[in-house]
Amino acid sequence: MPESPCIALVGKGGVGKTTMSAFTIRYLIEKGINPVLAVDADPSVCLAGVLGIETGETIGGIREDTRSVAKGIPDTIPKQQYLELKVQEAVTESRDFDLLTMGRPEGPGCYCFVNNILRDNLDRLTRGYKVTVIDCEAGLEHISRRTGRDVNVMIFVADPTVKALNTLKSVLEIGEEVSNKILRRLLILNRVPDGKEEKVLEAAAGILDLKLFEAVGVIPGDSAVFDAELEGSSLLNIDSSISSYQAYIGFLNSLEHPISA
Ligand SMILES: Nc1ncnc2c1ncn2[C@@H]1O[C@H](COP(=O)(O)OP(=O)(O)OP(=O)(O)O)[C@@H](O)[C@H]1O
Ligand SMILES: [Mg+2]
Repeated sequence: MPESPCIALVGKGGVGKTTMSAFTIRYLIEKGINPVLAVDADPSVCLAGVLGIETGETIGGIREDTRSVAKGIPDTIPKQQYLELKVQEAVTESRDFDLLTMGRPEGPGCYCFVNNILRDNLDRLTRGYKVTVIDCEAGLEHISRRTGRDVNVMIFVADPTVKALNTLKSVLEIGEEVSNKILRRLLILNRVPDGKEEKVLEAAAGILDLKLFEAVGVIPGDSAVFDAELEGSSLLNIDSSISSYQAYIGFLNSLEHPISA
């Protein structure tokens, strides 16, 4: 099957990965890129909420169940086929996108067999979509270990703090060891106060080698995102004219090659 692009968002806790993942999905939908697969790879499971849908079964749950019921699976159904079916069932379908939730990572014990089958299935699943968007926990190693997909576009997200920028520095370093297959790196500086853009860019340049990034986007702190969070509104439905979303899509539209290419 042809490779379909996989976009992953990484960064320190709380910097805006889930918010920017939702914005990315919304952008792709508005561009008519369909179907999109959204993957929540953060064990704390938040993406469904900002996308305004309920989550079903998680991959972590399937992994546990398969281990504990392994003996109960009828011999007539090979384990591989059983897991394939379960992965299909774990996909929550919505009008413009589907969502897969990874859930909690594995507990103690050996899961190699189940994990390998799951990885193959996930890999195959993502290839059935035009684009996959993965909302990750901080590190790169999780992405390849948990989803089995090579990442084509990595969106590094930081808020204007030294800690968040340092986290990205380590992600970049780990990235060099774990994978040389990331083709494109983008940097998003999120929640930047009005008038502080230059100062934040300077701070970023002091910690990160900005030449490693194809482009850098600056997203303002936006009270509309704050309100949506408090009201529990979906980021796919709130007014698209809000400053943070406009800044984000302005950035994506300014890229020489679309992120979905
Ligand atoms: N540009 C913005 N303006 C205002 N609030 C924002 C902005 N971006 C994100 N937020 C808010 O900041 C908080 C953290 O954002 P988000 O949940 O997207 O971060 P995260 O990196 O996914 O966090 P976690 O690591 O906990 O999953 C949320 O309350 C979100 O609504
Ligand atoms: Mg999150």
